[in-house]
Amino acid sequence: MPLKRSPSVDLEKLALQHIAPRLLFYGYCYLDRIMGEELGDQVLEEVRRLHQEGALKDGQLAGHPRGVSKRHLRGDKIAWIAGTEEGCEAIGLVLSVIDRLVALCGNHLGQYYVKERSKAMVACYPGNGAGYVRHVDNPTGDGRCITCIYYLNKNWDAKVHGGVLRIFPDGGSCVADVEPLFDRLLLFWSDRRNPHEVQPSYATRYALTVWYFDAKERAAAKQRFKRLSGKCKSMCQSEIPPCRSSV
Ligand code: OGA
Ligand code: MN
Repeated sequence: MPLKRSPSVDLEKLALQHIAPRLLFYGYCYLDRIMGEELGDQVLEEVRRLHQEGALKDGQLAGHPRGVSKRHLRGDKIAWIAGTEEGCEAIGLVLSVIDRLVALCGNHLGQYYVKERSKAMVACYPGNGAGYVRHVDNPTGDGRCITCIYYLNKNWDAKVHGGVLRIFPDGGSCVADVEPLFDRLLLFWSDRRNPHEVQPSYATRYALTVWYFDAKERAAAKQRFKRLSGKCKSMCQSEIPPCRSSV
């Protein structure tokens, strides 16, 4: 089947009328039926195959030595995917659509100027009740400004399956609950404005996450990283993605 996304979606309109203003006002926003059923299905198939082939490994927590199990804090299994690998063509197409959306937001993202991003993190919560404790993706100014998550879960019923992403905007008393529904794209600021948690998941829960970097903050983080050396450098390696810190 040829790869294509739903043609009825006007990306420019979405970026300028929906994503940028909501990010600026609420700090997060999500969109449904963004890629269309066909492409969503193809991505799901690729992700399932990665999972079946054993490509997904235990997620790590920043500040915790590798090898020490922190499954009670973070229970997902992950793989870093560029989208150019064989068998990851649909993932690659979805990444290019998300790139386009973020690029179309252009200079409508406040102080941010985005010009690069991380690879995609394919994540699976296996459905054994594992989640991810409340954390901030970028608490230390590592350069990441926008977290984008594309969810892949058909017939998800949060009352039965859990797995809700709960955001605590500005650490305040209001929360935003986002269900990890098939073909839903969520975007939020990656810094301390958006602590969030993945609630225990009782069915296999798949998502694809990318982080966009602010050019200035990223350059400063790289400088800081360069100045570090020896023991300190290895200690601070966790400042650089793919790791995240729990708070
Ligand atoms: C993360 C995370 C949220 C989700 O991996 O940092 O917060 O809904 N994931 O999968
Ligand atoms: Mn997170």
